[in-house]
Amino acid sequence: MDFMPEAQPSTNAQASSTPPITLAIDIGGTGLKMMALDKDAKPVTGRVRSDTPIKPTPARVLEVLESLRTQIPSFDRISAGFPGVIKDGHTMTAANLHPDWVGFDLEGELEKRWGKPVRVANDAAVQGYGAIAGVGVELVITLGTGMGSALFTRGRLCPGLELGHHPFRKKREYEDFLGRRGLKEFGPKKWNKYVLKAIEQTAHTFNWDHLYIGGGNAKLVSFTLPEHVSLVSNQDGLLGGIKLWGDQA
Ligand code: BGC
Repeated sequence: MDFMPEAQPSTNAQASSTPPITLAIDIGGTGLKMMALDKDAKPVTGRVRSDTPIKPTPARVLEVLESLRTQIPSFDRISAGFPGVIKDGHTMTAANLHPDWVGFDLEGELEKRWGKPVRVANDAAVQGYGAIAGVGVELVITLGTGMGSALFTRGRLCPGLELGHHPFRKKREYEDFLGRRGLKEFGPKKWNKYVLKAIEQTAHTFNWDHLYIGGGNAKLVSFTLPEHVSLVSNQDGLLGGIKLWGDQA
């Protein structure tokens, strides 16, 4: 989904960082990224990245993750954001990856390979956890390869909202207009119009108190945001990987 900034750790970050160290992984339709963060979401390593394999099956993606992981010295636990529906650590959909992900035990597989506790969540939910205030109804949408969405009431996630695949206009889904395909097909000016329209539509559908917009293409939003709408900073996105661990952090 493209929310990990290219943060650079301070020199001797590993030595001065507060444990536990979380290996935050972002599995996206375009890139695979990871970095290690300390308890306060301070980067302990730089961000490492590889392109998502052309045929992004679980086996191929895990192979690339394995090679990225060798660049991260050590960590205590793993948080992974995945671009699809997650149930009990299994990936249930993967619209922008490969059908082999349906029913795949990603949590179990990473745990088995790397011997550390793992939590996997939808990528938009991870970003949301880092961004929300925990007050009222908060909706997060992410604009990247796909369009992600996560709905929270009083800080609790209502899992499985896949707004990107709901009808938006002309019998086509939100993601067709607001995801990478839409940006390419319609160009930035029209794409911005659709983003604004989506803001209005979701306001009426969910009656959110606040809407957050994140993802790699959020930086292309060029209109003045309406009241109660804000952009999610990359740093907030990272914090979500820590928040996945809740009060165990
Ligand atoms: C997926 C979502 C994901 C979004 C952003 C969509 O295609 O269905 O689960 O959050 O892309 O990666």
